[in-house]
Amino acid sequence: MALDAVLNKIDETLPQSLERLMELLRIPSISTDPAYKGDCDRAADWLVAELSALGFEAAKRPTPGHPMVIARKQGPGRHLLFYGHYDVQPVDPLSLWDRPPFEPELQDGPKGKLIRGRGASDDKGQLMTFVEACRAWKAVHGELPGNLTLFFEGEEESGSPSLIPFLKANAEELKADLALICDTGLFESTAPAIVTMLRGLLGEELTIHAANKDLHSGMYGGAAMNPIRVLAKIIASLHDENGRITVPHFYDGVPELPDAVRAQWQNLAFDHAKFLGDVGLALPAGEKDRTPLEMIWSRPTCDVNGIWGGYTGDGFKTVLPAEAHAKISFRLVGQQDPHAIRENFRAYVRSMLPADCTVEFKGHGASPAGQMAIEDPAFERARAALSTEWNRPASYVGCGGSIPIAGYFQSILGMDAMLLGFGRDDDQIHSPNEKYDLECFHKGIRSWARILAALA
Ligand code: BES
Ligand code: ZN
Repeated sequence: MALDAVLNKIDETLPQSLERLMELLRIPSISTDPAYKGDCDRAADWLVAELSALGFEAAKRPTPGHPMVIARKQGPGRHLLFYGHYDVQPVDPLSLWDRPPFEPELQDGPKGKLIRGRGASDDKGQLMTFVEACRAWKAVHGELPGNLTLFFEGEEESGSPSLIPFLKANAEELKADLALICDTGLFESTAPAIVTMLRGLLGEELTIHAANKDLHSGMYGGAAMNPIRVLAKIIASLHDENGRITVPHFYDGVPELPDAVRAQWQNLAFDHAKFLGDVGLALPAGEKDRTPLEMIWSRPTCDVNGIWGGYTGDGFKTVLPAEAHAKISFRLVGQQDPHAIRENFRAYVRSMLPADCTVEFKGHGASPAGQMAIEDPAFERARAALSTEWNRPASYVGCGGSIPIAGYFQSILGMDAMLLGFGRDDDQIHSPNEKYDLECFHKGIRSWARILAALA
């Protein structure tokens, strides 16, 4: 059977597939840091070269930020668009890495081989699972599968600032019958999963100003307001004693889980204690009376992602700083409106400011939550293909993370998206020592070959 031949080809050529992934991992395409602009460009060039060599009509497409890559192969059947992102998160704190983040290595892990390096899982390893499936397909069939567009973004990790205008300007070219997004994970390490719910994301950065200069805390301390004290009080007030977020109207548009979904999630038999235990914790920090699975998949959050001000170097300095800063993000669910929450949050902060302090805000992206339509028969076909490859039934699951493009495919291009991927919870994405299990890379490639065969 042709599919078996493709799967065998994937098994035989895994070392070469891995070597190509290693090449991509060596390019430090950190999208948020302007110092790596040239590297983002290089990663896009690398993809264009690979995809052109594979027989796609591939091109780098400029944006005001980092380029997009589009590769096309016309053919019979439904037009599928595959999406992944070639940019990665910053690597700091570098001191916590066991090896240089952009010198990837195949290592022996406790449960098998793993690919260590920034982007190994999020999202270079994942996007390469699809590219390598196409390669094996071509080696067996003599041509690339079906009717395909590959679309790679270089700004996903920095809020996708160029995405909406790009989708609008290139709608004709990008609108396909169905989008496939490979940027999510397995369920509990071994079960394949298709994500049907994604949380939205709102980012806010604030600076609180007090005195017009840094002051000696002996000379002014007690009389002059310390902006870090103001900031700490505001941050401490963002959650009440039940773990609920206190910004006015924050819960507008947050739905209760439908009974059917609640029942389906209960059947997933998620190990709540292990989930937190694996990261050294035991006490769920969200709203009282909610399970951790609900907290990460179906409830909104408010988190401080960074806080700074005053003297943080070695030693000690008795300073009363002039300003204090924080970066705060909100994960959103249901119909929560990111723009309304931004305004309500800003008003709430202003209402807590002492009269002689001021605040400045900087917004960092605002995307609503996404709910995927799964009526297209392709979903059940893909689910069957995944179940066969992983030898466990594939489930429909939620995802606590955010992939804004999934919603934009729907709202801007009118195209449903199927989200599936092969990451594991312990991949340490966005953290030091990111890894991707070789098994996930290998079975990920095999999964796409099966899905392409099922959807072609
Ligand atoms: N691949 C992740 C999304 C994800 C996170 C999937 C966790 C599965 C589990 C994606 O690249 C990501 O990190 N997105 C950002 C969004 C952003 C910066 C706008 C996120 O969720 O923080
Ligand atoms: Zn990602």
